[in-house]
Amino acid sequence: MPSIFVFDAYGTLFDVHAAIGRFRGQAGPDADRMSDIWRTKQLEYTWTLTLNGHYTEFWTLTEQALDFALARVPSVDKALKPKLLDAYFQLDAFPDARAALRTLKAKGHKTSILSNGSPKMLKGAVDAAGIGADLDAVLSVDAIKMFKPRPEVYALVTDHYKCSPGDVTFVSSNRWDVAAGTSVGFRSLWVNRSKAPDEYLDFPPAQVLADLNTLAEQA
Ligand code: LAC
Repeated sequence: MPSIFVFDAYGTLFDVHAAIGRFRGQAGPDADRMSDIWRTKQLEYTWTLTLNGHYTEFWTLTEQALDFALARVPSVDKALKPKLLDAYFQLDAFPDARAALRTLKAKGHKTSILSNGSPKMLKGAVDAAGIGADLDAVLSVDAIKMFKPRPEVYALVTDHYKCSPGDVTFVSSNRWDVAAGTSVGFRSLWVNRSKAPDEYLDFPPAQVLADLNTLAEQA
């Protein structure tokens, strides 16, 4: 039976640390710390704004988070900012993500993205990765102007496919995003690339994957 596969974008299909990866030589020894702070702040801003009833699109938050990270880690040259933002706009897809999407599509499954990303930045990343033909839909929180993990975000999927939550396999590398998927009734898979310890134990994944290599085989 074909089913509906929905992927988180940043961290799951696209490598958020690929931007710094392209400039590691120029960024110096604190490059990875800066990139971690960049990602952490980017997410923190989505959560605080949504809790407070506000919305600013994800691209703007990505830039604001980079400003903070560069200020926090002064050893990384601030002049890299425009290059890092350009690289973020055209992030690399993980090779196993690309292969998984292609195989799922070939097997007749529905494949889509559900992301905090704005439509423009998602199009930039999808085009750069060349995965547009393997996706049926790219769903952005921008349609409802609230970020994950609001349940309304996950309802974008069931509204789009006119399906029940139980028909959806949701795949994310962000454990908090997996918890939200489980909470709304999706079959949620956690891609634990970094071998992080488990958390949000009340909302477990249906399965934990080391990467996306085995996903398409079992589908
Ligand atoms: C996304 C964030 C969570 O793509 O990375 O929705």
